[in-house]
Amino acid sequence: MARKITFKIFRFNPYDEGSSPFQQEYKLEETPRLNLFSALNIIRDEQDPTLMFDFVCRAGICGSCAMMINGRPTLACRTLTSDLPETIELFPLPFFKMLGDLSVDTGVWFRGISERLESWIHTDGTFDTKSVEKLMDNELANEIYEADRCIECGSCVSGCATANVYPDFLGATGLNRIARYMIDPRDMRDNEAWFELVSTYEGVFGCIGMMACEDVCPKNIPLLDTFSRVRRLMIETGLSSKSTLLKTHS
Ligand code: SF4
Ligand code: FES
Repeated sequence: MARKITFKIFRFNPYDEGSSPFQQEYKLEETPRLNLFSALNIIRDEQDPTLMFDFVCRAGICGSCAMMINGRPTLACRTLTSDLPETIELFPLPFFKMLGDLSVDTGVWFRGISERLESWIHTDGTFDTKSVEKLMDNELANEIYEADRCIECGSCVSGCATANVYPDFLGATGLNRIARYMIDPRDMRDNEAWFELVSTYEGVFGCIGMMACEDVCPKNIPLLDTFSRVRRLMIETGLSSKSTLLKTHS
């Protein structure tokens, strides 16, 4: 017999002065292979058109559907109800600006990270439309691709103890992005430049090693390896340049 699922969904509209946060219950009969994307759409179509949540791709690619599902940040579109108990509690991701109910704005934060880290290729080279394509070693291209697989869902930041205390912390996703440009031979920034950028408590020295980021990353990006590599390099750079290794927390 099909299970009757109880959804307890966080409701709050920060743009409505009369709104206060509460949990609203909805019930739904489970169907085979029902995922939370479909379940939330059925609830919105058939029970409550005011329910706010985000989805775009429905395929684990756009990162917009991340939410707290029974206390764990992850992608709703990749979560089957059959993998969850009969009562499912849904909350928006903490840390990000709340837009309403399960919808948060991750874009502003990720854009800020891009600007802080200047996440684009820094080079003095001029672009010559007639030059032949520069080939890259396959192994290196794969390494860059591995870091580039981040879909900016925000799960790692929401699950991170440091990020939830220090909103300026770059988080695993920010440090992953730094690593991506560090290994790219086209980016001319040197270790000293990276050191300036991330050798702070908001950067590479802020992590307290709880390891939740890698645990919750829906793309299984090896965040801890990346993190250790960047931290080791920054320590070596700091020691060799006799710079002040730990800048004070501003
Ligand atoms: Fe999401 Fe993983 Fe990227 Fe973090 S590193 S934003 S958890 S895909
Ligand atoms: Fe795009 Fe879930 S809807 S990742």
